[in-house]
Formats: sequence, C-alpha cells, structure tokens
Amino acid sequence: TCPSRVRVVEVGPRDGLQNEPVIVPADVKVALIEALAGAGVTTIEAGSFVSPRWVPQMADTADVLARLRSMPGVSLPVLVPNLQGLDRALAAGVREIAVFGAASESFSRRNINCSIAESFDRFAPVAGAARAAGLRVRGYVSCVLGCPYEGDVSADAVAKVAAALLAMGCYEISLGDTIGTGTPREARQLIERVAADVPIDRLALHFHDTYGQALANILACLDLGVSVVDAAVVGLGGCPYARGATGNVATEDLVYMLDGMGIETGIDLHALARAGQSISRHLDREPASKVARAMAAT
Ligand code: HMG
Ligand code: MG
Repeated sequence: TCPSRVRVVEVGPRDGLQNEPVIVPADVKVALIEALAGAGVTTIEAGSFVSPRWVPQMADTADVLARLRSMPGVSLPVLVPNLQGLDRALAAGVREIAVFGAASESFSRRNINCSIAESFDRFAPVAGAARAAGLRVRGYVSCVLGCPYEGDVSADAVAKVAAALLAMGCYEISLGDTIGTGTPREARQLIERVAADVPIDRLALHFHDTYGQALANILACLDLGVSVVDAAVVGLGGCPYARGATGNVATEDLVYMLDGMGIETGIDLHALARAGQSISRHLDREPASKVARAMAAT
C-alpha cells in the first residue's frame, strides 16, 4: 500500500542550478528558495560546499544561506564532499549536510576524484564530525540504475554503498538514478534489494527524468513503503559529471500525481508553480515539467 504522506525533498536550487550554464545570482537563488518554502516545501537543498573550480555555479552557497530569511521548520541541507566542505558549512551555520557517493567506480572518480573505497574513508570523518556538531547527515548513492561510463550497475553494488553510508550515521540514503535510464520493474527490484540491507523508511528516491521514466519509477516504488522523494521545480538540472543527464523529476509533476492519489505532501501546487514560473523566466526557458506548462496555459 502507498504511504498516506510523502516528504518531498526539493533539490532544484542545488541539483538544478549546479548544472545551468549560466551562474544564477545569489539573490535569484534566495528568491527561489523562499518561494519554495512559501509553497510548503520543508526540505530544500540550498547549495553545495564543493570545489568552486569543479562547480562554479555553487560557489556562492555561503552568500545564499546568509541572505535567506529565517524559515522555521524548513531544513536547508547542502552537499559536502570532504572536511574542507564541512568547515565551510559549519561556518555558514548549516544544520544539515549530505555526503555523496556512487555505486560505480568510474562515476565516483569523475565526480569526486576518488574510488568508492576512498570515498568511504573521506565521508566517515565528515559524517562523524558533522554529527558531533549536532548536524543531520544525509547520504546519496549515484548511478543506482546505470552509469554513464560503465552501463549496468548491480543492485548489490548499490546496497553495499547504501549500507556503508547508513553505518556512517546517515539518517537517510537517497538513491540516485543519475542518468534517468531506469524503468519501473528495475527500480522496484532495486528498492527491494537495497531494503534487505537498509530499512525502507531510511530510503529516498532521487530519479532524474532524462528518459521520461521518473514518475513511473517513483510510482512503482511507492507501495513498497518508500515515502521520501527528491524532485526539482520545473525539472531543473542535471549533473555536470554525467553528460546529457537532464533534470530530476519535476516537483510539479510529482505533487500533481500525489495530490491526485490523495497522498499528502503539504505543498500548494499553485504556489509551487509560481516559484517555477519565476525561475523559468529568469533562465529564459520553458519548464521541463508538463504539469507546469499545462498550468501556465490555463
Ligand atoms: P580534488 O581536486 O581531488 O580535491 O577534488 P583536493 O582535495 O585535491 O583539492 C583541490 C583543490 O580544491 C584545492 O584548491 C582545494 O582547496 C579545493 P587549490 O589548492 O588547488 O586552490 N577544494 C575545495 N574548495 C572548496 N570547498 C571544498 C573543497 N575541496 C577541495 N569542499 C573534490 C575533490 C571532492 C573537492 C572535487 O572533486 C569536487 O568538488 N567534486 C564535487 C563535484 C560535484 O559537486 N558534483 C555534483 C554533485 S553530485 C550529484 O549531482 C549527484 C546527486 O544529485 C545524486 C544523483 O543524481 O546521482 C547528488
Ligand atoms: Mg542528482
């Protein structure tokens, strides 16, 4: 049976804007995050403390966080790849971070410049120090349904990385179909396999919509008991280290589907759509979301 409520983790300001060819000014990011919070989104990934040479789009994350008005009840996690990133996050007053690994060696190397085993050695002290400082730590696994360099990725490999992140103290493990190649049966089998090692209520779905499968894949996993789904407003985004990857499932598409199924999210679809229209205008592009386009037309 499907959950009665889904927590939507909005990743547009990070996963979306990290992949835009233009650098979006901090005040536009601030307006986007505040509009998303105003629509009722309670977890909004606000940026990342990674190398500004690797991802210049996220170089102003500290500035964005400093300008945000206080939003009680809204969690604003940021990506952190190493202790240097954690220091920057702590200096910015962050309360939640996410570390990000991969189930494929080649992707790990391209994305964070180390092997999977080395990434565990890096993340463990980051997670430990973060938790000692009272922060919550989320974990990502990339390439859970395919790798842009290696092709197929086994569910066993995904489960191994997910279990390692859990053992490091991550409260939740978000499973990333980075290149959006997965299809529903595989997605479901993946969750069933990973749930043998990580409790299902600790798993989140992070599906990119490159092949238009994300919503179907989410639906296929919901009745297994997963109740946390990552999404990006107007389907912003991609990943700079996965060529051709497009954005996450659009938050509007997800919320429309869940609303229709009577599954609560606490998000006001119309207010969400306005947030999406505003960032689309800034980027001067059509939303990737069908729901957003339909709502704008009516
Ligand atoms: P490296 O070059 O191996 O690191 O990169 P290093 O420790 O040798 O440092 C090299 C330089 O970077 C040094 O500067 C450091 O100070 C600096 P220099 O002395 O040359 O001037 N540096 C930093 N600066 C600021 N903040 C830091 C930091 N760390 C080092 N935290 C590193 C290793 C991990 C840093 C690099 O590979 C990196 O930043 N990677 C991040 C890539 C990234 O952000 N990818 C996108 C996010 S993941 C994603 O999108 C997938 C996800 O959505 C899930 C899915 O869809 O699958 C989460
Ligand atoms: Mg992603």
